[in-house]
Amino acid sequence: MQISSLFLAVLFTSAVIADGSADQHKKHHHHDDHRHHKEGRLERECDKIFSLEKLESLVANSTALAEVAHGNATKIAELQAKASQDASKLADLQSNQTLIVECQILAAEEKLERDCLELLKLEEFLRFSSNATEVSTKVNNNGTKITEIAAEASQSATKLQQLQSNSTLVAICLIVDAHNREKLQCEEIKHLEKFIAFAENSTALVDDTNNNATKINEIKVESSKAADRLANLQSNATLVADCASFDQPTNVATAQADTEGPETTANTTGPATTSQTSTPNGADGKLLAKLSAVSAVAILATGML
Ligand SMILES: *[C@@H]1O[C@H](CO)[C@@H](O)[C@H](O)[C@H]1NC(C)=O
Ligand SMILES: *[C@@H]1O[C@H](CO)[C@@H](O)[C@H](O)[C@H]1NC(C)=O
Ligand SMILES: *[C@@H]1O[C@H](CO)[C@@H](O)[C@H](O)[C@H]1NC(C)=O
Ligand SMILES: *[C@@H]1O[C@H](CO)[C@@H](O)[C@H](O)[C@H]1NC(C)=O
Ligand SMILES: *[C@@H]1O[C@H](CO)[C@@H](O)[C@H](O)[C@H]1NC(C)=O
Ligand SMILES: *[C@@H]1O[C@H](CO)[C@@H](O)[C@H](O)[C@H]1NC(C)=O
Ligand SMILES: *[C@@H]1O[C@H](CO)[C@@H](O)[C@H](O)[C@H]1NC(C)=O
Ligand SMILES: *[C@@H]1O[C@H](CO)[C@@H](O)[C@H](O)[C@H]1NC(C)=O
Ligand SMILES: *[C@@H]1O[C@H](CO)[C@@H](O)[C@H](O)[C@H]1NC(C)=O
Ligand SMILES: *[C@@H]1O[C@H](CO)[C@@H](O)[C@H](O)[C@H]1NC(C)=O
Repeated sequence: MQISSLFLAVLFTSAVIADGSADQHKKHHHHDDHRHHKEGRLERECDKIFSLEKLESLVANSTALAEVAHGNATKIAELQAKASQDASKLADLQSNQTLIVECQILAAEEKLERDCLELLKLEEFLRFSSNATEVSTKVNNNGTKITEIAAEASQSATKLQQLQSNSTLVAICLIVDAHNREKLQCEEIKHLEKFIAFAENSTALVDDTNNNATKINEIKVESSKAADRLANLQSNATLVADCASFDQPTNVATAQADTEGPETTANTTGPATTSQTSTPNGADGKLLAKLSAVSAVAILATGML
């Protein structure tokens, strides 16, 4: 399929930036405040632009305007007055070309995230609805509800087909899904390790249970199960290596940025004005932040798109 150059730009910029900032996140938790601050600011600015643009196009379309106002002439006049008042504010924001590009990137990422989530949800719903046992259990064997679910499944299948016809979306969604699953498993490993350490710490056990021997025994039993599960997860060398890489900064540029980063200049510039050299446009989205640049490049290189 043909991918637009904007989309490619979005993919690469965001993935690379996200990779850098994710590493930085691990190394310096206190940077997060700045990043979130910055991301939040951009999001707010973009939301303002989007809603002003929406209002502008609404008042430009008399059919849509009448629909929204339910034909109420007072309401229509109010919306028109508001749009005309806001026109200069919008023009002002739109005059910043950098901001406009960043907002376009953000919007594309958000659309990708929405579509990917919808795709995964539809797949899960169709899996569920195709299992008659599961469906009837879920709705207490209510025939009406079973029919409703079947009807919804038919609609969902059409929608899913539509989304799946977009091979870019499918390819990226697959990476994201695999990555999310892996992240969850990494978190599980950490929780298991923590729990096992707790169960092996007699001081902590006594403190936590008020020295209740029954409870302590229960915890030991749980801990033994946890150890089995942990061994099972850790037997996968790929998973262990990937989990370790999530915790470690790998990016040389990021490491450099870190040494020149906010904490060394904080006294002179102050936290609010500190800029992050490794996140030049701060446009790392929620979804693409979960993607590594490597997988994005790999998927493009293997021609899956
Ligand atoms: C105006 O709004 C109506 C109703 O929402 C829509 O069907 C139509 O396509 C819009 N016209 C233009 C030119 O956008
Ligand atoms: C029309 O809109 C105005 C302003 O929003 C509102 O005060 C008024 O109650 C509305 N009239 C009707 C009939 O809904
Ligand atoms: C334009 O927008 C960018 C990105 O949000 C921002 O960093 C910059 O300060 C803005 N420039 C002006 C002149 O407002
Ligand atoms: C494929 O999906 C992506 C992400 O939602 C979207 O940006 C792009 O426009 C879609 N392409 C087509 C051809 O629909
Ligand atoms: C359907 O769901 C039941 C209960 O969750 C499960 O035991 C069974 O394996 C499922 N059947 C198929 C074909 O997936
Ligand atoms: C079955 O589901 C329908 C539709 O949701 C509901 O109106 C009805 O009360 C349910 N019947 C029973 C017996 O729960
Ligand atoms: C055991 O738990 C106690 C109390 O929670 C804690 O102070 C101590 O550091 C723990 N010991 C080890 C070896 O983790
Ligand atoms: C000890 O823990 C067990 C299991 O959680 C609980 O049933 C029991 O009531 C506890 N005994 C005391 C004295 O708190
Ligand atoms: C090991 O983990 C990787 C990464 O999460 C996964 O792709 C692979 O399927 C796992 N292998 C096994 C045998 O579970
Ligand atoms: C930076 O500020 C902190 C707290 O205000 C102060 O303790 C520290 O000495 C300052 N460092 C430099 C290099 O000025």
